[in-house]
Amino acid sequence: FLGGVEPSPPDPILGVSVAFRACDDPNKLNLGVGAYRTEELQPYVLEVVREAERRMIAAGHDKEYLPMQGLAEFCGATAELLLGKGHPAIAEKRVATIQSLSGTGSLRVGAAFIAKFLPGKAVYLPSPTWGNHKNILADSGVEWREYAYYDASTVGLDLAGFLKSIDDAQEGSIFMLHGCAHNPTGVDPTLAEWRQIADAMQKKNHVAFFDVAYQGFASGSLVEDAAAPRLFAEMGMEFFCAQSYSKNLGLYAERIGALNAVLNDATAATNTLSQMNRIARAMYSNPPVHGARIAATVINDPELFQARSRWNDEMGTMAGRIKTVRRELFEELTRLNPDKDWSFVTRQIGMFSFTGLSPAQVERMTGTHKIFMTKDGRISLAGLSSAKVKYLANAIDDSFRN
Ligand code: LMR
Repeated sequence: FLGGVEPSPPDPILGVSVAFRACDDPNKLNLGVGAYRTEELQPYVLEVVREAERRMIAAGHDKEYLPMQGLAEFCGATAELLLGKGHPAIAEKRVATIQSLSGTGSLRVGAAFIAKFLPGKAVYLPSPTWGNHKNILADSGVEWREYAYYDASTVGLDLAGFLKSIDDAQEGSIFMLHGCAHNPTGVDPTLAEWRQIADAMQKKNHVAFFDVAYQGFASGSLVEDAAAPRLFAEMGMEFFCAQSYSKNLGLYAERIGALNAVLNDATAATNTLSQMNRIARAMYSNPPVHGARIAATVINDPELFQARSRWNDEMGTMAGRIKTVRRELFEELTRLNPDKDWSFVTRQIGMFSFTGLSPAQVERMTGTHKIFMTKDGRISLAGLSSAKVKYLANAIDDSFRN
């Protein structure tokens, strides 16, 4: 009875990993998915995660269901990591936080909430954005539109276009904002630019939906990378925020994240949380516990998590390794083709570099050089080692010339 079902095309990001695994060339390199690798190109489990797991095993937890909202210690900790310990919105119980399935699952609950309680509202996405944003909204029955974000001519932010999109959108629209380390471009507004964006949004009564998937990966500091949502909170603006611990705690497969609604009213927060729980109940009932315990242990432990804690040190190491290969890639590309301005490589922030390679050039990168990457020209520098920089630079230079 399913004879009429057409095959789904491969996922633009996760499909790259499938193609990579199927390739047997020894030189192959996977720069598709944003997942951190060591210099040896191996996955990395953070020491603080290992330590949290040792403590969890020693504590001998049971496997009872969590409540629909998730683990209480985790929900408290994740809101504090977002807004800062002792933030008035938390103290005044104006934040509704539900543990969900990493960034995607949290966005999905948020989208279902919008479909149910804000029917007819469109969500504006940056152009370009992470491809899955469109899937998530479309599958939830929420209309999406695009706002100007990236200026290809400067490989930078199109601030004027962004502000115009805010102004042109119908009053009270929802804007998806990448909290830091914009995916795929690696181009972030400065704090002064965030102020202009927030002012413009406040004037039009727009609501932000932050996607914070890389807290700690832009600057290497968990605090600095939360500057944008904290600014909105400071200005008294209400917003949604999805968080992921896939990248900053390396908990990719644990599916741990959260959806927050930061509101101006405690009753609204209580009611909103109850409705988020209702959405989760029908979608997956209640979330998995393992990753929540790890994240809660790390965030709540004064030794594991502090301004100069071991987590921050490890975050700094990961972000530092990416900055090093960025610089090395820039130097090698400049050596190969000094006539082209490659400075965008070191200007971009986070795990990714948006190279400007066209889809045909990306095909050459993969077909000829066995470098697997997304068709939009994005490469994950988190998957690059210093040893492979020359190989990658040669391939990029060759693909731009052909
Ligand atoms: C990415 O953009 O590579 C990551 O966010 C992983 C994913 O799920 O797409």
